[in-house]
Amino acid sequence: MKVVTIVGARPQFIKAEAVTRAVQRYNQRCRSNRKLQEILIHTGQHYDYLMDKIFFEELDLPKPNYHLGVGSGSHGRQTGMMLERIEAVLVKEKPEVVVVYGDTNSTLAGALSAAKLNMPVAHVEAGLRSFNRTMPEEINRLLTDHLSTFLFCPTHQATRNLLREGIKDGKGKIVKKVGDVMYDSILYYSKLAEKKSSILEDLNLFTPNSALGTPNYYLATLHRAENTDDPKRLESILKALNKIGRNTPVVLPLHPRTKKMIETYHLFSEFKNIKFIEPVSYLNMLKLEKNAKAILTDSGGVQKEAYWLKVPCLTLREETEWVETIKSGWNVLVGIGVKRIVKEVSHTEKRRRYLKGNRVFGDGKASQKIVQILIRHLVHSV
Ligand code: UD1
Ligand code: UDP
Repeated sequence: MKVVTIVGARPQFIKAEAVTRAVQRYNQRCRSNRKLQEILIHTGQHYDYLMDKIFFEELDLPKPNYHLGVGSGSHGRQTGMMLERIEAVLVKEKPEVVVVYGDTNSTLAGALSAAKLNMPVAHVEAGLRSFNRTMPEEINRLLTDHLSTFLFCPTHQATRNLLREGIKDGKGKIVKKVGDVMYDSILYYSKLAEKKSSILEDLNLFTPNSALGTPNYYLATLHRAENTDDPKRLESILKALNKIGRNTPVVLPLHPRTKKMIETYHLFSEFKNIKFIEPVSYLNMLKLEKNAKAILTDSGGVQKEAYWLKVPCLTLREETEWVETIKSGWNVLVGIGVKRIVKEVSHTEKRRRYLKGNRVFGDGKASQKIVQILIRHLVHSV
C-alpha cells in the first residue's frame, strides 16, 4: 500500500518524523504483504539549511523522493505552484492515501491536489481553530479539514470543533482523537536533547558565578505574519523583550521572516538587550525550552512544547488554537502590549509552583494509532 506524505515547512518535518518512524516500526513487524510504502514529497516551502536540511539530518528523516523546489512567494503563487507540481507526482504515484500535516500552504496544496484527484486525504492535526479568519493558517486548516477523509485530531476540543462544522466520524469520514504527534516526538527526543545539546554552554546562559551552573534566561520565538508584518506590533513585542532583557538574558532564535522584517524596519540596533541568534536545531530548541525561566512565543508548536516540558509560557497573540494549555494555567495569552508582557513575565516563577500537567494531548502514541487506523481502513478498500 502506498502512502504519499507531503511536507514543506519546519514544524512539518518534526511532525512527519514521528509518523515515519511509526511506519518503519510497523513495516519491521509486518509479516504479510501489507507493508506500507511511504513516498515523501517536500514542497520546498522552507529551504534555508537551518529551516530545512538540519532537521532531516538530525532526525534522520529519509531523503524526500520528490523535492518540488517551490520556495517563497505570495500565498496564491506559492500555493498554486505547489498544486501544479504535487498533482503531477500524485498522478504518477497513484497512492492509496495522501497524508498532510498542520496548517501551512503546503498542507492546503497537498490536500487540494489529492482531493481533486479523488484520492483520500489524511489530515494530521485536524480540527484546530483559532476562529480568526485573518490568519492564513485558519483558512488552510478549515479547507484541509473539509477536504479530508481521515481527520486525526490531537485533542477532544479538536473533535468538537469539527462536529460544529458538521464533520463527524461515519458516513465516509474517519474522525479520531489520536493525540498529538509532537508529543510523541518530544517524549522520544527530550532526553537525547538534554544529553547531546551544548547550546546553553555555547551561548553562556548561566547565572554568572553560580557554582551549579544555573540556567538563567528567557526564550522567545516570533514569526506569525500578524506580528512580523505589522511594524507597530513587531516593535511593541521587541520593546517588551528588550525591557525584560535588561535584567535577564532573552534569547530569540530568529525565523527568516522576522529577520527580514527587522532589517526592513532597521530595528536591530534599537534592541541591544535581546540576544538574536540563528534558528536552532530541534534538539537545541528542546534544550533551550526545557531550561528557560519562561517562554514567550507566537508559535503553535512551541506553546505545546512549553506545556509538555512544564515551562511557563506567554503567548504573544490575542487567541490560540491550543486552548488546553491556557485552561491548565501553563500558558497565558498576553497579546503584544509592553506593560502586560513585562508584568506577566514577573509572575511566571510563582505560577510554575502551582501547575500540573495532564494528558489532554494523548499518551505519546498518536503516530502509532494513525498508522493502525490507516492500515485498518486501507486494507479493506484495496
Ligand atoms: C509558514 C507557515 C506558518 C508556520 C511557519 C513555520 C504558511 C502560510 N505559513 O510561515 O503557518 O507557522 O511556516 O515556521 O504556510 N524564508 C526564508 N527562508 C526559508 C523560509 C522562509 O528566507 O527557508 C522567508 C522568506 O522571505 C519568506 C518568508 O520567510 O517569504 C515567509 O516564509 P513562508 O514559508 O511563506 O511563511 P512562514 O512565515 O515561514
Ligand atoms: N523549532 C526549532 N528551532 C527553532 C524554532 C523552532 O527546532 O529555532 C521547532 C520547535 O521546537 C517546534 C517547531 O519548530 O517543534 C515549531 O515550528 P514553528 O514555530 O516554526 O511553527 P508553528 O508551530 O508555529 O507552526
